[in-house]
Amino acid sequence: MIIRECEEKDLETIALLEKTSFPVTCWTLEQWKYEYFENPCSVLLVLEEGKVFAYIDFWILYEQAEICKIAIAEPLRRRGLGTILMKEALKIIQKEGVEQVNLEVRVDNEAAIRLYKKFGFEIVYVKKGYYEDGEDAYQMMKKGVQHAEDYSCY
Ligand SMILES: CC(C)(COP(=O)(O)OP(=O)(O)OC[C@H]1O[C@@H](n2cnc3c(N)ncnc32)[C@H](O)[C@@H]1OP(=O)(O)O)[C@@H](O)C(=O)NCCC(=O)NCCS
Repeated sequence: MIIRECEEKDLETIALLEKTSFPVTCWTLEQWKYEYFENPCSVLLVLEEGKVFAYIDFWILYEQAEICKIAIAEPLRRRGLGTILMKEALKIIQKEGVEQVNLEVRVDNEAAIRLYKKFGFEIVYVKKGYYEDGEDAYQMMKKGVQHAEDYSCY
């Protein structure tokens, strides 16, 4: 298994993984192309073993970062892969001297919320009706980004 930066050839697989991972807020292939080619702040990492099966997309903008997307292919979930991608992303974010990391998550997404809490994210407020289907989002935030090896739970 290797973790590496996304390449153009990965975008179709990412868009397919996206469809199964985000039924409501799925980005299309065109949106992924935009993220890859046009967004200079975006960092897109993938996990592969001959084939891409997980990705994380985040932005770094001066002293702030935003985790936009993280997804693991369904049959491979709950094996620590989300943790690996989060750690790698936070290492990069930490090197850039970021002071605050933000993200939004559906209030019913227990798996993701627990993952983020393990990395020290806290719920700061609820965004009412944030998603297209009317579901609320938690705004989560992590202040100060320690060295990724310091996370006591891992
Ligand atoms: C959220 C997601 C990325 C987690 O990835 P993962 O590889 O399964 O996560 P890990 O195996 O590294 O698990 C890390 C921790 O997350 C939490 N977690 C993960 N899956 C969970 C589940 N199904 N139920 C409860 N907690 C869960 C646990 O705290 C877990 O630690 P533990 O195994 O020691 O209890 C994955 O479920 C996924 O791709 N979901 C669909 C896309 C999505 O919702 N992304 C987040 C959008 S904001």
